[in-house]
Amino acid sequence: MQILTGIWFAKGLLLTSVAGQQQWQPTTSHYGKISFQYNRSVTRATFNNPPINLVDAYVVSDLFDFMQSVQPAPNKTTPKVVIFDSANPEWFLGHYDLQNIVLPFNQAKEDIFNQVIACTRFILNTTTTAFIAEINGRVIGLGQELSIHMDMRFAGPNALASSFENSLGLAAAAGGQPFLGPTIGKARAMECLLAAKSFDGPTGEKFGLFNTYYPTADELRSEVSDLAQRIGLFARHSINDTKVTLSLLNPTIQSLDDELARFLPLMFLPEDQATIVKFIELSGNQSDSEFELGLPESSVQAVRDGLYVR
Ligand SMILES: *[C@@H]1O[C@H](CO)[C@@H](O)[C@H](O)[C@H]1NC(C)=O
Ligand SMILES: *[C@@H]1O[C@H](CO)[C@@H](O)[C@H](O)[C@H]1NC(C)=O
Ligand SMILES: *[C@@H]1O[C@H](CO)[C@@H](O)[C@H](O)[C@H]1NC(C)=O
Ligand SMILES: *[C@@H]1O[C@H](CO)[C@@H](O)[C@H](O)[C@H]1NC(C)=O
Ligand SMILES: *[C@@H]1O[C@H](CO)[C@@H](O)[C@H](O)[C@H]1NC(C)=O
Repeated sequence: MQILTGIWFAKGLLLTSVAGQQQWQPTTSHYGKISFQYNRSVTRATFNNPPINLVDAYVVSDLFDFMQSVQPAPNKTTPKVVIFDSANPEWFLGHYDLQNIVLPFNQAKEDIFNQVIACTRFILNTTTTAFIAEINGRVIGLGQELSIHMDMRFAGPNALASSFENSLGLAAAAGGQPFLGPTIGKARAMECLLAAKSFDGPTGEKFGLFNTYYPTADELRSEVSDLAQRIGLFARHSINDTKVTLSLLNPTIQSLDDELARFLPLMFLPEDQATIVKFIELSGNQSDSEFELGLPESSVQAVRDGLYVR
């Protein structure tokens, strides 16, 4: 018999205790930027931050809370598989809210930045749960970096992935660079990063960025759900052991820290700061503009047209 013995609210996430076992039972996130559907061992986490799923302070905070909530603990049941998807058919995840790296880089901005990095580290070190990105929309900048930390990526007809930071004078420094090389090969990663190129679903599948490309949204969703349910049949300690072993292929935390340390001075360069301000203007304040929808090409064109500061 299952007896409800207690309820805790962890910043909007509902944890219930059933017969002494703490059961992770998601509702919605604190800021409402991620909603959850729970199905036995599988959780579907749906991003929704209209209009362009900008990765702003609220998305970051909700993702951080969620990642904390799925950390294993004695007598706590966590999901075996998490599927990340999006409520927005045009966007899986957008880029970082660039307002948060405009100088002055105050404590609040630094805290959000650190929380972003903590989210990427949690995706890497949570070995008891498999993370799947179900991508049917743009996945750009920081969004692309978050998804490439995940264990698997599947793509639908609207998928478009790009790390376009080099076009801004920056770099995909939240782990995007070192993960792309092992995933698609060094030479292709060089092409993609150095030239700020994008991948659609079929190309991403060919290069190994996406496990599989599905030509319809329905097929994508049902195939990914089936895969997740299948993984969810098996023991958590087997999932854990497989993830611990294959995680040895990840770049080391030291190398990721070194990458970040090289990034910050770039971000603070006066010409890059001026470019970021210009980007915010050109993108209609990071709104549902043609510029945002046209990334990465619109940003590359802005460089050709001399609109950024050099
Ligand atoms: C829940 O699992 C059943 C099969 O066990 C499946 O048909 C259904 O689509 C799943 N729902 C979600 C939200 O994954
Ligand atoms: C886990 O549950 C068992 C059985 O209900 C109990 O004896 C044990 O003290 C619990 N451990 C923790 C860390 O809560
Ligand atoms: C995983 O990374 C998070 C964020 O950096 C950290 O707080 C946590 O302690 C790490 N967990 C393990 C098991 O290393
Ligand atoms: C996962 O594997 C690591 C390494 O063997 C181990 O330290 C950890 O306790 C395991 N976690 C679970 C929940 O089995
Ligand atoms: C840009 O958008 C933010 C909210 O995302 C708002 O706080 C700010 O006032 C806007 N700036 C301009 C110039 O419209």
